[in-house]
Amino acid sequence: VQAPVVTVDGPGGSGKGTVTQMLARELGWHLLDSGALYRLTALAAIRQGVALDDESALVDVAATLDVSFEPTPPGEPAKVILAGEDVTSEIRTEICGDNASRVAVMQPVRDALLQRQRDFRQAPGLVADGRDMGTVVFPDAPVKIFLTASAEERARRRYNQLKEAGVDVNMSALLEEIRVRDERDMNRSAAPLKPADDAQVIDSTGLSIKEVLDRCMAAVSQA
Ligand code: C5P
Repeated sequence: VQAPVVTVDGPGGSGKGTVTQMLARELGWHLLDSGALYRLTALAAIRQGVALDDESALVDVAATLDVSFEPTPPGEPAKVILAGEDVTSEIRTEICGDNASRVAVMQPVRDALLQRQRDFRQAPGLVADGRDMGTVVFPDAPVKIFLTASAEERARRRYNQLKEAGVDVNMSALLEEIRVRDERDMNRSAAPLKPADDAQVIDSTGLSIKEVLDRCMAAVSQA
């Protein structure tokens, strides 16, 4: 029997990152941050001098990613080590997210990361955060959540996050970036961002993290 999986898909800034970390902690399950793998592929490509439109070279980069996720105290994001170097904060930049969404449109790149993602499914269970967790990577997941929020709300959250981290940002530029990235993620032919047919959609606009977490926990306990 395979370990259970809760998939949480949705656009950037929907609160997925925070909610999946809390959910994994509450359940005592593993966490897959699949977006980090796309971000790491983009970052490793740039480091290796690979152009972000060179599909076959990118497939190679993705297939040979030397990455480890190191556990940190509960509630903190895992430390991300790429080829021996701590890139935890570097992969969180807007540029890296944008580059990630460019390499993520390529089906062969996605294929190269597929098994690596499925390998995270281990006892006692997995919380999987991404865009296609419920539709492609874990189509048999017993619990599927699609977490969304208005673009304005997502931009506002991202703005606060970046400000807190001491990054100087412009709100309208951020909103525009979010719209462009959503558009690219939803309109690509390879694993477009959309709720699985059997996903429960949660709109987190106006909800607190706690309220969103409670709804996710309710979905898990009903399964
Ligand atoms: O979730 P995060 O913002 O880290 O994801 C970065 C980018 O990686 C997304 O905009 C998306 O293009 C891509 N991605 C994806 N499939 C996933 C996770 C992320 O295509 N499962």
